[in-house]
Amino acid sequence: MERVVSGIRPTGNLHLGNYFGAVRAFTQMQHEYDCSFFIADWHSLTTHPRPEDIVRNTYTILAEYLACGIDPERATIYIQSDVPEVLELYLYLNMNAYLGELERTTSFKEKARQQPDNVNAGLLTYPSLMAADILIHRGVKVPVGKDQEQNMEMARKFARRFNTIYGVDYFVEPQSYSLGEKALKVPGLDGSGKMGKSEGNCIYLKDDEKTISKKVMKAVTDSGPTEPNSPKPEVIENLFTFMELVSTQETYDYFNERYADCSIRYGDLKKQLAQDINAYCAPIRERIAELSADTDFLSRVAREGAERARERARQTIDEVRHIIGFRARQ
Ligand code: ADP
Ligand code: TRP
Repeated sequence: MERVVSGIRPTGNLHLGNYFGAVRAFTQMQHEYDCSFFIADWHSLTTHPRPEDIVRNTYTILAEYLACGIDPERATIYIQSDVPEVLELYLYLNMNAYLGELERTTSFKEKARQQPDNVNAGLLTYPSLMAADILIHRGVKVPVGKDQEQNMEMARKFARRFNTIYGVDYFVEPQSYSLGEKALKVPGLDGSGKMGKSEGNCIYLKDDEKTISKKVMKAVTDSGPTEPNSPKPEVIENLFTFMELVSTQETYDYFNERYADCSIRYGDLKKQLAQDINAYCAPIRERIAELSADTDFLSRVAREGAERARERARQTIDEVRHIIGFRARQ
């Protein structure tokens, strides 16, 4: 079975963009591939989080992953910092990663601009750590959004370079895996193109009914259509995109027809949408609450996931050490 790897940084709760854009597809892929999903807590250190936030955020994401339907019996789910072999590979990759190419990546330049007082070496070598995350599993497809394309290009470059330097054909170049129709861009309801943490416009999976309703009722609209069958402006299209995700076909058609004949009342549409988002999220929200309270279970999932990930990681490291010229580990 082909191997799939993906990681998510623990920077807060999962929102509907994360869910419909990535996590829902992970839950489908676990039936078709040999999947490893991990929580990239080492990556999150580049912004110097407080210790108590690291622990909390990591367990929050773990509970939310599981609540969404990632099944620890099918996929290997683990916390990156539980697999120290990744760091050894990171070190080897760094020996052949050059300052010029690392400095030129757009994500580095962007972060350096955002946090000019904290342009640390971890930020610079973020692509080699990400490459290590992937290559430690070998031969993989990597489901990631478009924003990760350059990091993926670097991972392929590092894999190729390792093979060339040592005259081996060891690492397979990992490919970004387009989630195809399963991936979509979830819009923001504030008129911005995308729902995202940095945009500050998220509906979170854990949000309760009242919070969801408040956020949806605040959604930006226009003054309404005046000509029958007119095209929808982006802010209105966004509301309909949401309906496609969470509402029934009948509901969607009902409001679509009301838009077409100009009798639509956005207040009604929003009320319905809030109800449908809530109905969609309620079971996930309940699971999140249950799982978050069961720290024993979460620790067990993390421990078993780490054991499985480490077994494969150890094999890679043993082979890599041999290729590089180190003796076997005692
Ligand atoms: P954020 O932008 O909120 O910080 P991340 O960058 O941590 O989210 O994204 C984690 C995953 O969720 C990535 O795979 C990304 O492609 C996906 N994702 C985030 N926001 C959206 C969105 N609005 N639509 C679709 N996918 C999204
Ligand atoms: N860089 C990814 C992000 O910001 C997270 C990540 C870290 C990752 N290591 C990875 C994704 C390995 C896929 C594979 O979203």
